[in-house]
Amino acid sequence: TKAKVYQLESKRDQRIKISGWVHRLRAQKGMTFIILRDGTGYLQVVLSGKCTETFDALTLSIESSIEVVGTLKAVKEGQSAPGNHELVADFWKVLGKAPAGDEAFTNKVNKDSDPSIQADLRHLMLRGETASNVMKARSAVLSAFRDVFKDMRVLEVTPPCMVQTQVEGGATLFKFDYYGTPAFLTQSSQLYLETCLASLGDVFCVQESFRAEKSLTRRHLSEYTHLEAELAFIDFSDLLDHIEEAICGVIDIVLADPAISAIINELNPGFQKPSRPFMRLDYKDAIKWLRDHNIQKQDEDANGDKIFLADGSPQMSDHQVGDDIAEAAERKMVDTLNVPVFLTGFPKDIKAFYMKKVPGDENFTEAVDLLMPNVGEIVGGSMRISDYDELMAAYKHEGIDPAPYYWYTDQRRFGTPNSGGYGLGCERLLAWLLNRFTVRDCSLYPRYTGRCTP
Ligand code: 4AD
Ligand code: MG
Repeated sequence: TKAKVYQLESKRDQRIKISGWVHRLRAQKGMTFIILRDGTGYLQVVLSGKCTETFDALTLSIESSIEVVGTLKAVKEGQSAPGNHELVADFWKVLGKAPAGDEAFTNKVNKDSDPSIQADLRHLMLRGETASNVMKARSAVLSAFRDVFKDMRVLEVTPPCMVQTQVEGGATLFKFDYYGTPAFLTQSSQLYLETCLASLGDVFCVQESFRAEKSLTRRHLSEYTHLEAELAFIDFSDLLDHIEEAICGVIDIVLADPAISAIINELNPGFQKPSRPFMRLDYKDAIKWLRDHNIQKQDEDANGDKIFLADGSPQMSDHQVGDDIAEAAERKMVDTLNVPVFLTGFPKDIKAFYMKKVPGDENFTEAVDLLMPNVGEIVGGSMRISDYDELMAAYKHEGIDPAPYYWYTDQRRFGTPNSGGYGLGCERLLAWLLNRFTVRDCSLYPRYTGRCTP
């Protein structure tokens, strides 16, 4: 029978057959050492002169796929190999050959290659240890969310990606032609999740969201994996508790998996689960904090374009209540605080139309961003306007034609509950957890301004 690397612990001193790709190759004193990679792990393989070969060992090249048969032996004291064992092979054959010489894999791309080459050859970069570790952790995180939601009795649904409504403002919509009528790629599945509450109770989805972001930053993608949940009969503090519970639950699950915890430790040495409860910081106190710490914002003109001085330097000024807190300032703040921060109570004018106002403080919203050190915002959420008239006024204020939203508006006519929810950027959570500089490293095939390939 064929073995996989992750199962080998129980197969010491047994004969096994295994297939994989030649990850590393080293010839020495009539012996060839291979690190074999099968996607589930790495295995040292020793080919000695006694091997039956269908090809000469010289034809063996990095990234060829091979099949090997042999006996699994513990490595000698003082030697190191993945899993502390090696396969002493007596038969091997090439299944799929990769080129050697100038055309060899390692000459095409490696971790020191120019970033644009790495991006063009993402399909090859994915075979590298770092990229595949990130993708393994990503798989574990998504699966952990599903476990956590199952425990919390939150059901998974699959809303559409092709829509005719916006959620987070018209500026970042991707528009396309849908059989002759205009449609958009979804920015968020929130409105659809809200329609499921009265049918299924609390719900979540893991869906791609699309944003035509103009800015090329380390944390903005044009397509990202959006994990969103919507909860009925809750208040704002329940919402914050839920977000904290879900994220900490996911961290517990991934850390309990030895393979994933090893990946986290390698990519983010010293990582520790954040302590609870998370810090809660009201928006107005954050503005004061920024002023006290002399962290300024760049001024914008009436079109929202950044203003520069004659010498080309940005025109800066102190933050005022009402301002959006831009990426740089947000990250300086959370990096200084160095703990997860629930930033709450944003002004309504900088937030989405559907957000509930703070009772008695109508210019502010029951909205929350969860900020993480090194990344900034990884979650955005809020309580939802539950009053019909207030929702109609909110469409008007935002300049939205309510007609295409009839199905959303109907929720407010047929037994609306107090409800709230949030969206979490999967790549941003991973950038924090795995200490990656950019979310691009946490996406399988990242899309951002100017890149839609491979
Ligand atoms: O803050 P956002 O825009 O909130 C919403 O879309 C809500 N409708 C979600 C909800 O309440 N159901 O986006 C939520 C999260 C952000 O906190 C961020 O982590 C991520 O989605 N995100 C992006 N990630 C990568 N690239 C982008 N361009 C992103 N835009 C948002
Ligand atoms: Mg947001």
